[in-house]
Amino acid sequence: MKPVKIGLLGLGTVGGGTATVLQRNAEEISRRAGRGIIVDFAATLEIERAEELGLEGLRLTENAFDVVNDPDIDIVVELIGGYSPAKELVLQAIANGKHVVTANKALIALHGNEIFAKAQEKGVMVTFEAAVAGGIPIIKALREGLSANKINWIAGIINGTGNFILTEMREKGRAFDDVLAEAQALGYAEKDPTFDVEGIDAAHKLSILSSLAFGIPLQFEKTYTEGISTITPEDVEYADELGYTIKHLGIARRTEQGIEQRVHPTLIPKTRLIANVNGVMNAVLIMGDAVGPTLYYGAGAGDEPTASAVVADIIDIVRVMTSDPNNRVPHLAFQPDQLADIPVLPLEAIQTAYYLRVCVLDEPGVLAEITTILGKSNISVEAFIQKQPKVGETKVDIILLTQRVNEGDMNKALAQIEALTVTCSHVVKIRVETLK
Ligand code: HSE
Repeated sequence: MKPVKIGLLGLGTVGGGTATVLQRNAEEISRRAGRGIIVDFAATLEIERAEELGLEGLRLTENAFDVVNDPDIDIVVELIGGYSPAKELVLQAIANGKHVVTANKALIALHGNEIFAKAQEKGVMVTFEAAVAGGIPIIKALREGLSANKINWIAGIINGTGNFILTEMREKGRAFDDVLAEAQALGYAEKDPTFDVEGIDAAHKLSILSSLAFGIPLQFEKTYTEGISTITPEDVEYADELGYTIKHLGIARRTEQGIEQRVHPTLIPKTRLIANVNGVMNAVLIMGDAVGPTLYYGAGAGDEPTASAVVADIIDIVRVMTSDPNNRVPHLAFQPDQLADIPVLPLEAIQTAYYLRVCVLDEPGVLAEITTILGKSNISVEAFIQKQPKVGETKVDIILLTQRVNEGDMNKALAQIEALTVTCSHVVKIRVETLK
């Protein structure tokens, strides 16, 4: 059989990794796929660098539309990232009847519903394993390996940069800004680190996981997103004292009222396996009703780990590209006409436990005032720490861990606590999950 021809859009870190893996493992890949796979055409703005890769017979262009419009190309691999022109290129490739592989989480999270509908109409596949947690085959696990289960919840460390920063803060007592500067110097974080540290990158990935887990359309805009830039070394230390580690988690949970879809710093018990996922590594914990908890761990970024996911997608497509389009694994795990209209809940409606750090004047009766407000709000305190004030200081931090409560009720109680004359600043609130 004729080899399948790949058109690569982008020959940067992941594009270069993809070409290298396809070439290095060509024999093994063709034994798996049943056909040879060759990178035939690539679009890059760095033609000279691309030539240095030494890919035999590879045609190069600076115009990515040349690749998507080339009649010889069977599968377009989009690795340029961002919204535009990635979206236009992918839609054009689909319109031309080509299958698409993409690593672009932002594109799938925001425009996936439209892209999959168009792909369905044309009978082509759009695969995106590399879009979530890099090399970890998490899309495959959710869409296929766990398809017998009703998924109850997912909790993932799905941004390596944020995990590196929190790991350094915990292990070395360093401040957020200091570690961020190092992460940028090491090339983990972008020059503009907003997407990583403010949770947008994780929210893109979480909205994809949530859709696959619960059979709902992609709804990135409804994902609550809070970053890690306000986490202080004190909070990391207090959490540790209470037996917890702070991780930046993406959490998607099915409840009777709807779906919780949220990214925020989270205290989790130090004893959980996922609490020990450190540095730039990613991990996703999935709770299925039949299988129970399953944990997936690996590299969330990097040239060859991401290429591992991209090439696996290419092989999947090659294996079934001649099959009936109506009998393929659905893009979003559930049949397109079976996507459910379950609401994604607003933040006030979620339920979780809380770590609260309240700065108060060191006076008699202060603690009673705070616990009275919590008691009247039906919020039960699970653990408590108060340090002695430093010499000459009139203020002191008290730390409370609460039981699970509705976020809206917690916010009302906090407004009352912040209005007390004895509290000296905004209460620090970090959500707590036991992941049981
Ligand atoms: N910027 C991402 C991270 C990697 O730090 O995990 C690509 O998704």
